[in-house]
Parts: sequence; C-alpha cells; structure tokens
Amino acid sequence: MIEFKEQMREKTAHINEVIARFLPEESGFQKTIFEACNYSILAGGKRLRPMMMEETYYLLGGRLPAQIEPFMAAIEMIHTSSLVHDDLPCMDNDTYRRGKKTTWAKYGYDMGVLAGDALLTYAFETAARAFAETDHPERVGKAIGILAAKTGIYGMIGGQTVDVEMTGKTMTRAQLDFVYRLKTGALLEASMMIGAVLAGADDSTVCKMESIAAHIGMAFQIRDDILDLTSSTEVLGKPAHSDERNNKITYVTYEGMEASEREVEQRSREAMREIGALLEGASNAEAKKHGEYLLWLTQMLITRSA
Ligand code: IPE
Ligand code: IPE
Ligand code: MG
Ligand code: MG
Ligand code: MG
Repeated sequence: MIEFKEQMREKTAHINEVIARFLPEESGFQKTIFEACNYSILAGGKRLRPMMMEETYYLLGGRLPAQIEPFMAAIEMIHTSSLVHDDLPCMDNDTYRRGKKTTWAKYGYDMGVLAGDALLTYAFETAARAFAETDHPERVGKAIGILAAKTGIYGMIGGQTVDVEMTGKTMTRAQLDFVYRLKTGALLEASMMIGAVLAGADDSTVCKMESIAAHIGMAFQIRDDILDLTSSTEVLGKPAHSDERNNKITYVTYEGMEASEREVEQRSREAMREIGALLEGASNAEAKKHGEYLLWLTQMLITRSA
C-alpha cells in the first residue's frame, strides 16, 4: 500500500514535469493570458487524467514517452480549462480552486473566459506536436479525434450544458446519468482511449477502455458530490457545499447518501474487474506493473478524501 502511494507521488511529480515542459513562456504583449493559463494549471490537482492515460499506454505495450507526453499535457490543459470555466460567476461562481483563488477571481471575469478558451485551444496545439514524434501518424490523428469528440458537444461540454441548464430544476435519473457520463466521464474516457490508441491497441480494446473509464467517471463524480457535502474547503482545496449553494441536483440529493456510496463501490468494482481481465493478458512484467497500479488507483478513488 505504502509502495503504491510512493509510486503515486513519483508519477505525479513526473506528470508535473511533463506539463511544465509544454507551457508557454510568460512574455510578449499578451503576457496576461500566458500567466493566467500557467497559474491555473500549475496550481496543482491530482493529475488523474494524464496518470490514467500514461498507465493505460504502458499497460497496453506503449513504449515511446515522446508520443504520449504531448497528450498527457493536453488532457490536463482541457480538464483545467473546464474547471476555469466551471468556476466562473455565470456557472458555479466559485472563488477557490486547487487551494488558490480561482482564475477569474485572480485575473478578472474577462481573463477567466479567455484563459479557459486559451487552455482548450492550446491543448490541441500541444497534442499535434506528437506528429513530429511518432512513426504512426494515423494513431496520433485518431487520438486527436477522440480528444476533440470527448471534449466537445458530444462530450464534456454537452454534459456541462445540461448541468448548467438544469440547475435548480428537477431532473430525471436518465438526465442525471447523462450529465455525469459526459461532464466528468468523457475526459476520463478520452484519457484511457488515447493511451490505448497510441499504444496500437485494437478497436475492441479501445472500447473496453472506454467502458472502464465510464465506470470510473461515474464513481468519481458521485464521490465528488459526496465530498462536497461531507468534506471541508481546506481538505478539498475548493469550496465545500458549492452544490447546495447553487441548488444543484446531485446523485446524493437524488438517491441519498447510502445509495450513492453503494454506487461508487459498485462502479469501481466493475472497473477493477475489467482492468483485472486486461491484466491477465499483459504481455510482460513491465506492462503488468502498470496494470496493478491502475487497479490500486481505481480502488483508492472509492475512498479518496479530496
Ligand atoms: C474536479 O476534478 C472536477 C470533477 C470532474 C469532479 P478533479 O477532482 O480531478 O480536480 P483536480 O484536477 O484534482 O483539481
Ligand atoms: C464539474 O463538476 C465537472 C467539469 C466538467 C468541470 P463540478 O462542478 O461538480 O466540479 P467541481 O466540484 O467544481 O470541481
Ligand atoms: Mg459545475
Ligand atoms: Mg463546480
Ligand atoms: Mg463538485
């Protein structure tokens, strides 16, 4: 257990180093946008999405760090852009994120909007750099397509649309599931699918990764809702009770705390069962190590406190 925690620290530090390598220099007339982007992405965060992407890549036989790294930075840029916009006054109106002022609270509403746009666009600029690092441009092209689809109107942005539109209104269970699958699940799905595509996995394995990540995404968002109610601003690094303040319907208000906890457990177990099956087919000891770490990470998310 301690050993995995230590691995997590090392992997997070490595991901931070990868991200930093792709960030813009803070100079030029548009310096403010560079600063606002770097401020929001360097504020911290668990780096779960690049971590799941990298682990999937190596589990499925990927070998080239230079091919996967632009995508690791890109997915964290997109995730951060979603948080920057999610915190805006017109959305969740939060002033605290990753233990610091939110981007708009620090740089103003106008720069908050621009920083979200900037990170989102720069993510694709960054991902496209992988073309120069690969012998398989078709894999990079496919991965960029997945990144776009899972971010856009059929992915995260589609989910956020319904989330924002239905705030304070009653939702059906089907709408709620739709919101969770898209607003949170989609970027996790992109992470694991891109890891698989770049490793050269076949379509059925890529689909399997999508299904595993969908379970993890659902469990992750329900746990986020639980923590919004039960944790503290200090521990979370973002305001507790934000959902209550915004009259959000969440899984917890809809199904109750016990059912929510059960769902987190069940979804995580399902994901772990599927990862376990992949692990059995791992081609070598190195791949196996990454699969075992992914299993531990999924288990850890059930009880995470932040
Ligand atoms: C927060 O995501 C938004 C949700 C999808 C619940 P994370 O909990 O991964 O946020 P960071 O990246 O660690 O700050
Ligand atoms: C947001 O869900 C998911 C995103 C796509 C940003 P939340 O609104 O619950 O995320 P937090 O709690 O602010 O991180
Ligand atoms: Mg929100
Ligand atoms: Mg929010
Ligand atoms: Mg939340």
